[in-house]
Amino acid sequence: MPKRFLPQQGPAAIAPHIEIMEISKATQEDIPGLCELLGFLFAQEAEFQPDLSMQIAGLREIIDFPERGQILVLHEGTSLLGMINLLYTVSTALGGRVILLEDMVVHPDHRRRGAGSKLLQAAIDFAKSVGCRRITLLTDQTNKSAQRFYKRFGFTISKMVPMRLP
Ligand SMILES: CC(C)(COP(=O)(O)OP(=O)(O)OC[C@H]1O[C@@H](n2cnc3c(N)ncnc32)[C@H](O)[C@@H]1OP(=O)(O)O)[C@@H](O)C(=O)NCCC(=O)NCCS
Repeated sequence: MPKRFLPQQGPAAIAPHIEIMEISKATQEDIPGLCELLGFLFAQEAEFQPDLSMQIAGLREIIDFPERGQILVLHEGTSLLGMINLLYTVSTALGGRVILLEDMVVHPDHRRRGAGSKLLQAAIDFAKSVGCRRITLLTDQTNKSAQRFYKRFGFTISKMVPMRLP
């Protein structure tokens, strides 16, 4: 698969100016920008707090081992506008690869102009291209705007309850 690719279709294809945004697979050089984006995300999420060293370690665990998953990034020129993290696992129920979608975040200065839609559509296209049979994600119960955003792409709320240790 080429490093850079574009989503095929869907709600992302909404405005001409969005075409200058480019989606690619994250590399080591993206880590500082990714940490900034994760800082925005974890500052707002109820169960997490930003921690730079943890974020760097976690990002390396994915970027250095592409068999574990794929981080897609959205650039506009040299600016990193957004990211999405797609982690592979296997479902015995579905008999194959499924994806856990994490770390969907767009820089606060660039929201509500289609960047998130473009990233999510690219993630869905990518998941299909690698034979993924389901995408699962977690979102804060109070994050109604994110839930509306995901629902526009066909995601539904699961009847299952997430549990954690610790
Ligand atoms: C959720 C998130 C990723 C969406 O990213 P985004 O770039 O704002 O997404 P989009 O611009 O594609 O769509 C957001 C809204 O802007 C609207 N929009 C898109 N392009 C637009 C434009 N050119 N002009 C005006 N509105 C536009 C969309 O219709 C959408 O409306 P909605 O409120 O009905 O959903 C972003 O808000 C974010 O990073 N939030 C904080 C982190 C977060 O909560 N992540 C999810 C964790 S599970």
